[in-house]
Amino acid sequence: MPSITRLIRPDIAQLEAYTPIAPLDVLAERLGLPIERLIKLDANENPYGPSPRARAALEQEAHYAIYPDPEHQRLRAALSDYTGQSVERIVCGAGADEIIDLLLRLFLAPGDAVIDCPPTFGMYAFDTGVCGGRLVEAPRHADFALDIDAIERAAAETNAKVLFLTSPNNPTGNLTTRAEVERLLDLPLLVVVDEAYIEFTPGGGHGDLAFSSLVGQYENLAVLRTFSKWAGLAGLRVGYGLVPEAIAEHLWKIKQPYNVNLAAQVAAIASLDDRAYLEANVICLTSERERLLAALRELPFLHVYPSQANFLLCRVVAGDALALKQTLERQGILVRYYRKPLLRDCIRISVGTPEQNDTLLDALRSWEATKR
Ligand SMILES: Cc1ncc(COP(=O)(O)O)c(C=O)c1O
Repeated sequence: MPSITRLIRPDIAQLEAYTPIAPLDVLAERLGLPIERLIKLDANENPYGPSPRARAALEQEAHYAIYPDPEHQRLRAALSDYTGQSVERIVCGAGADEIIDLLLRLFLAPGDAVIDCPPTFGMYAFDTGVCGGRLVEAPRHADFALDIDAIERAAAETNAKVLFLTSPNNPTGNLTTRAEVERLLDLPLLVVVDEAYIEFTPGGGHGDLAFSSLVGQYENLAVLRTFSKWAGLAGLRVGYGLVPEAIAEHLWKIKQPYNVNLAAQVAAIASLDDRAYLEANVICLTSERERLLAALRELPFLHVYPSQANFLLCRVVAGDALALKQTLERQGILVRYYRKPLLRDCIRISVGTPEQNDTLLDALRSWEATKR
């Protein structure tokens, strides 16, 4: 009998597998270290975790045996208050990741183009592949600013349907400006602005740097948000899209009915009710980011890029970036290493607690000392 795999969609069969980040227990075992020794600075998670009200709400919830609200009504009402957008423009997902997938499934027919601006978040390329789309790259300039002319050319040449922008961008930490977004909104395609890290910018996602208030004013603007970063809920998988009603209507038709589990909905609602606590953690992280930036800049083997998010991108300008990542890893300090174009010799460090950052800085200083 011929192999069953010949029946698999050929484009999926050829797709490169995604390399996910290993969970803590697996990493601890691999490194031969107790979990408590690990300092996880490789996935931009929040070291302070969920808010006390979220933890209490999870404990008190009595209906885990019942399917969750498929329309996320209480969560969307709370998000409407948080974002200033109407509930009709809010669609929740199992992380912002699910909204990326849903939007692409909604817009792409096989072979349709999506414009990606690398270096950036990998899921845009991944989901474009899964949805049978064609990725068209408009790489950023050397300072990681968008190449607006290249994006406009790509749009004209490929009839692309979707463009992904990210503000602040992961892993480069820089913002997309209002002038850039407004110019790109003139293109005949869906502009998705991913604001996963917007709470770490001045204004906390409520000021001029956020594009959420423009949703609805433009028929082709969607904004993505998540509870994974500022609210410390990455493990529960909950995010949302702000989209015009005309798009929301169709997203509702294609999403899995129970896409956001009950625990995630409960914790997200309680987090929005514990904003002062979470915002205080965000302030700790942004002030730590600045302290870490200054301390890292003292190290001659690193070039550190400024960042508006909860991580710092560093280029290893003297020495081997992979060897550095591995040396840190042996000590239980996990950072993200890149080998892609424009990110050669780069590592990305998520901002940790002051103690975690001090341990990292000590390890980096010792590494420098061994190089002398
Ligand atoms: C830019 C960006 N968008 C979206 C996500 C995913 O968010 P979520 O955990 O809500 O799926 C990430 C996670 O790292 C990210 O960096």
